[in-house]
Parts: sequence; C-alpha cells; structure tokens
Amino acid sequence: MRYPLPEIESLDTILPDEPLLMMGAGPVPIPAKVAAANGIVINHLGDTMAQIVEQVKAMSRYVFQTKTHHIMGVAGPGSAAMEMAIANLVVPNSKVLALCNGFFSNRLAEMAERNEAEVVRVDSDCGSAIDIDAVAAAIRLHRPKILTVVQGETSNTVYNACLPEVCRIAHEFECLVIVDAVCTFSTMPLGMDDWGVDAVITGGQKGLSSIPGVSLVAFSELAWELICQRKDVLRHWCLDAKLADQFWYKKSYHYTAPVSGILAIHEALRLVCEETLPSRFDRHLKCSLALQSGIEGLGLALYVDKLSRLNSVVGISLPKKIDQKELLQLISREYGVEIAGSFGLDIVRIGQMGEQCRTHNIFRTVHALGSSIKKLGYNIDLPTGMAELERAIDTFVPLYNPR
Ligand SMILES: Cc1ncc(COP(=O)(O)O)c(C=O)c1O
Repeated sequence: MRYPLPEIESLDTILPDEPLLMMGAGPVPIPAKVAAANGIVINHLGDTMAQIVEQVKAMSRYVFQTKTHHIMGVAGPGSAAMEMAIANLVVPNSKVLALCNGFFSNRLAEMAERNEAEVVRVDSDCGSAIDIDAVAAAIRLHRPKILTVVQGETSNTVYNACLPEVCRIAHEFECLVIVDAVCTFSTMPLGMDDWGVDAVITGGQKGLSSIPGVSLVAFSELAWELICQRKDVLRHWCLDAKLADQFWYKKSYHYTAPVSGILAIHEALRLVCEETLPSRFDRHLKCSLALQSGIEGLGLALYVDKLSRLNSVVGISLPKKIDQKELLQLISREYGVEIAGSFGLDIVRIGQMGEQCRTHNIFRTVHALGSSIKKLGYNIDLPTGMAELERAIDTFVPLYNPR
C-alpha cells in the first residue's frame, strides 16, 4: 500500500467514561429521545419522511409563533441558516442595515457584504444593547431594504430587548427584518408574526437541545414574495430557498436530506410542544436567574448590566488574577463541567439553553465554578453562592405561566 495504515484510537479511549456536562454556549446536552432519534436512518423521500416533515413544520409554526408556510430545515450549522436567509433576501447592490453589537451580528453584516449588498452598520459598544434611537435614525436616513439583528448576542451575552420596536420601525419604511434567534429560540418569547419578523434563523444545538448540524429558517409571506420575485440566479445552490421548497413543501428531491438530524429536531420540537412555550420560558427564566444569583453570591460580577443581560447565556467577568484558559481546563478536568470562554473578552460564559436549564445542572455548575476559582487562589464565598442559588429557585415566581 502506498500510504501507511494510520494508528487510530477508538472513541472509548478518547472520550471520558462519563460524558462531560455541557454548560457552555452550545452545543448543549440532548435528551435521550433526541439522541435515539439521531441514531436512525430512513428513506429521505418516502411517506414516513413526508409525515415527519409535515410534523416538523407544524411544530415549528408553534415554536416560531407564526402562520407562515415557509419554514424549512437546512443541512448545516446555524451559520448556514444565517447564510440562507441572507442569500435569499439580500439582492446584490441593495442596501442592508446591520445592527452590530457582537461577533454574530457582525457575521450577518459580513455575509450581506459577501452577497454584494451595500451594508450600513449601526454599531453599539461591546456589552451594550442596540440603541433604538440610533436604529430609527439610520432607517430614516438610509432607507434599507433589509435589516439584520441578533436577538441574543451569545458572544458577549447581550440581549436586544427592543427587537419588537426595531421591527415596527423597519416595517414603517418597508424594510424586511432578519432575526438571528440561534441562541434564544424556544428559551424566551419571539413573536415572529406579532412582531413582524421576516426571517428567523435558528440552530439545533442551543435552545432546542438537538444536535448541531441541522438548522431551521422561517420566512414570512412578505419575505417569500421577495424570494419568488427575484429574477437573478442565486450563487448558493444548496441554500436556494426555492430549491429547498421542493423538499420541504413538494415531497421532492433537492439534496439528500440529513434524515437523522431531522428526526432529532422532530423529537426536540415535540418535547418543546409537550412542555409548552410558557412553561419552557419559565423554566429558562427560573434557572438563569438562579444561576446569576448563585454567581453573584460567590462574589463574582456578571459582565452585562441587568437591563441588557441575556438570560440564555450568562457572561461572568473574571477576577484579574484568574487565567481564563486555566480555569476552563480545571473545571473540565476536576468537575467534568464544560463552560465557555469568549471571543477575546476576559469573561467565561455559562449557557442556559434547553437541557442546561435543570436545577441539578446549575447546582453542579455553580459549585464547580466556585471551587475551581478558589483552587486558583481567589477568595470565593462558596456557601453563599450555593445558598443564593437555592433561594432564587425557591422564590421564583412564574412569569409566563402564572399559577
Ligand atoms: C447568536 C448566534 N448566531 C449564530 C451562531 C452560529 O451558529 P453555528 O456555530 O451553529 O454556525 C451562533 C453560534 O454560537 C450564535 O450563538
């Protein structure tokens, strides 16, 4: 043989005996039913698949809170769903207003530029939500055709609460709105129809607690009209929504669908429907607020002010003498808990999406974080952190599903 046979270790020797608790910014732990579904392969075009696809669309309409009949899956990461929304809605040489306050909102702007749009950015300071007055002024001045915004900036843990207002103003000026809900989908309210969002993007591996690699995108009727009116040929064949429509609405072939991933997303959506959105939002809120109380009880500071703080991923400022990399390694090695660093910021991030929002997972994570920082020589009040966490859980008052 010309090339040598490589020496390979089996996964049993590479992976830890007990899976690490995935408490970073995604991927997140998946329920057993989702994992089981992901282990099945079926015919991508048969009647069984058609029935599953119908159910995925029906459940998605509930989770996206929309009546639209233009929801489709994408074989690819959240970024592929972002690119699908951009490629189909951004016409070359048209004007796009990109609201930029972090890594992922900048990615949307870059994608629009690559699609040859004239991109105008409204930047916010790092760690701050977008400023609605600046957005309104920019819309009036530039009259964009498309506006891009991220509901929850996972990268720096900022929440853009003014999203409904952004949509309202954009629509006054006949501008379509693309929302990246990759980390917020099914963790907090997003009223696609009520707010007038024209494209919502999400990934599988965050709020839905499914696998990475299969994502969803929903287009409004207005957005679909624009897509159908386009006369130019899209350069992205795989991401062409009119071609994807063949599979998602006409039981026909576009490309071989990621059947296992679609089965996994079916189960993830079914579990959301079983729990119902109000209960799910309350579970996320309760766990995230409790986590935040626990962290502050330890004596650590949260990175973002309460008003702009994202609940789906919580950013924690590190004390000066703590090295981020060393902390992440220690917490993983000693406690079997994975949390995330960040993109150039001196913070660590703990996710509160899907299965991460279970009280036993938060107790383990706050304890692991506190103990690890203590071992690295910083004075941490572990008993108060744990007590604050417990107090916040016990005193939580449901907001979306009041008893
Ligand atoms: C808000 C947001 N948008 C987009 C993405 C990109 O998703 P993916 O990494 O699956 O491409 C992420 C991933 O972390 C995200 O958090």
